[in-house]
Amino acid sequence: MAAAKAAKKEQAKKGTAGKAGESGRDKVVLAYSGGLDTSVDIHWLSENYNVDVVAVSVDVGQPKAEDDIIARAKRNGAVDAMFIDVRKEFVENYVWPLVKANGLYQDVYPLSTAIARPLMAKTLVEVAEKVGAKYIAHGCTGKGNDQVRFDAGIVAQNPDLKILAPQREWVVSRDEEIDYAAEHGIEIKAKKNSPYSRDENLWGASCECGALEDAWSEPPAGVWAHTVDPDKAPDEPTYIEIGFEKGVPVSLNGKKTDGVTLIEKLDKIAGDNGVGRIDHVEDRLVGIKSRETYECPAAVVIIAAHKAMEAMCLQREVLDFKRIVEQKFTRIVYDGQWFGGLREPVNAFIDKTQEYVTGTVRVKLYKGSVTVVGRKSPVSLYDQGLATYSKDTVDTFDHKAAMGFIYVWGLPDQTAARAHAGAKGKSKKQ
Ligand code: ARG
Repeated sequence: MAAAKAAKKEQAKKGTAGKAGESGRDKVVLAYSGGLDTSVDIHWLSENYNVDVVAVSVDVGQPKAEDDIIARAKRNGAVDAMFIDVRKEFVENYVWPLVKANGLYQDVYPLSTAIARPLMAKTLVEVAEKVGAKYIAHGCTGKGNDQVRFDAGIVAQNPDLKILAPQREWVVSRDEEIDYAAEHGIEIKAKKNSPYSRDENLWGASCECGALEDAWSEPPAGVWAHTVDPDKAPDEPTYIEIGFEKGVPVSLNGKKTDGVTLIEKLDKIAGDNGVGRIDHVEDRLVGIKSRETYECPAAVVIIAAHKAMEAMCLQREVLDFKRIVEQKFTRIVYDGQWFGGLREPVNAFIDKTQEYVTGTVRVKLYKGSVTVVGRKSPVSLYDQGLATYSKDTVDTFDHKAAMGFIYVWGLPDQTAARAHAGAKGKSKKQ
């Protein structure tokens, strides 16, 4: 609160600076979700920083609100409010690169929240530049990763923009925010007893706080919003087929499907089979371990299928080295360094590896489990003639060549064994 007061005083002294709106006040572009925090922020920013608020809701596939959040932002004092649908760009330029990298932070979390942040930051910067805003604001707290992703992402694109983060400066409880809203006539759609903090988009949902803070207790049923309880999922398995072209999912069950639709459809099919629930204690960038749950049905299935496609289409050396690069890419995304210098070169490497990751993977979904049960590819490196042990298939492998190969392969060790045996006084005879 102190920083805000100082800023207000300074503002009063200076008058208006930069490109101000018609009111003569500076503008702030607020990343607005329609939730409690960012609804209250419209009022709080306007009051404490003496700025005009432009509320921007970036659509990355989060569930639609019950009311018109744009109209509500205006009623709550925003000078302008807008909804920007970036779902196609989100899938093609952010999610698919993540799939190509089999992106799982700490081998578990499909980075669903993290991967949306750079695109949100990009969209906010574009609006800020268009409306001549001096500030960008977001509703992140000082304990999470998202503040890092927004702040670092914004200044990497436009270092002149200043960041305001009310929930980082003005640390109050949810109930206090609700009281603040009531006092100032702010229209909100929040229930006092909702215990969780959630973030949702096309690639998945994150949930933290409330009962989840006890890392020993099983997540209560209420944390799950997008998946059927695996115990209650159908008793018959569901089989699906995902087609890949150069590492990108392009079809579902044999039908060419655009990315947004493919993810939405698969999310429903997999979620109905109880697939995609994740319960995890993860390391935040800010040094805190936190217990969170994720629901990412489509992500879990697509990554499993993509790995299976790669196993068939990539050489061992590429697979091994790519695992190292994948770890790096995953960290770049998690740590909010999308606009940093390493992301593009790393992406270029990963893209190159995907040139021949093309084909179809068949997956069985059953009561929460995902099992790859088939794969085929026009550029498969799996050659049944080489692999066969069956009498019915023509064996194309040159068995005699194996002996020569093994002689050469084992030669360094054989040489060393003789030399060392000699040193220990044993026979050196050939
Ligand atoms: N821990 C995850 C991440 O850093 C998810 C954060 C989700 N945020 C939330 N408000 N629940 O990417």
